[in-house]
Amino acid sequence: MSNDISLNDISLSTKIAGIALPSCIYNASGPLCSTADELHAIGKSASGAILSKSATLAKRAGNPSPRYIDTKWGSINSMGLPNEGYELYANLSNELNAYDKPYFMSVSGMSFDENVTIIKELANFEHISAIELNLSCPNVPGKPQAGYDFEQSRSLLEAVFAVATKPIGVKLPPYFDMPHFEMMASVLNDFPIAFATCINSIGNGLVIDTSLESVVIKPKHGFGGIGGDFIKPTALANVRKFYTLLSDKKLAIIGCGGIKNGMDAFEHILCGASAVQIGTHFMREGTPCFKTIENELKSIMKEKGYHSIDDFKGKLKDI
Ligand code: SIN
Repeated sequence: MSNDISLNDISLSTKIAGIALPSCIYNASGPLCSTADELHAIGKSASGAILSKSATLAKRAGNPSPRYIDTKWGSINSMGLPNEGYELYANLSNELNAYDKPYFMSVSGMSFDENVTIIKELANFEHISAIELNLSCPNVPGKPQAGYDFEQSRSLLEAVFAVATKPIGVKLPPYFDMPHFEMMASVLNDFPIAFATCINSIGNGLVIDTSLESVVIKPKHGFGGIGGDFIKPTALANVRKFYTLLSDKKLAIIGCGGIKNGMDAFEHILCGASAVQIGTHFMREGTPCFKTIENELKSIMKEKGYHSIDDFKGKLKDI
């Protein structure tokens, strides 16, 4: 059957919150999406959408460097939300609209009120397609990850949905315990959430340089978010579990974690992802990675006889 399909007949298009993406592969909020030049570079690439760095109300310098280290198996970072402030990312929306793909803004206010204020303001920007509310940054000293506090997440979503005019999705931290998946799912099920991105980095890992007998990043005595190859099994588990728990809703799951080739993307989609985001690998390879992963995923689909991601999305089998 595979030989009957031409690569040109294979589509990677997808929809998130009813918004059409020409490709289901795009950037994670984090690497290389903080400046106008970086966002334009994503616009010009094969990325299926443009997603901004998580924005706060005011510009932030973030944590002291070194704060991002690439290792053989992935990355550790404690960036601390360095960003230009939400107004810059909102104002860029008009020019980024020139690209044939949606522009999503990531928001990670430093407080409850800051999140509400930013999301209210974004109503004024026609060309922001949707907002990814980051409930999971592990890197601001003294600030807990909202996604691990289910009641706080619920209160924040109540306040946000009281003012939101655009589709709102959430970026979740990784969960590891079955009751925690269920507790977060029961919060999300009470709101008209457009999408859930699973997962942010695994928080507060430690990487050691044995020759120096030291940690490798400066902030928080070396503790930082772990990304890359190492986190793929956890990411897949979170995609699968939330796809299962939330699949009766029109909510898209977006897979993020350990994707560096077409097979990794295929696995995420098989678990239920409607789209995938590239973080550590994008940081390493830059914008060409989107086209490479796209070509690899299409070749796998051709081999398996699939025309669209809906042909296998969520269809992971038990044995
Ligand atoms: C950071 O800026 O520290 C990373 C953002 C995140 O993990 O959400």
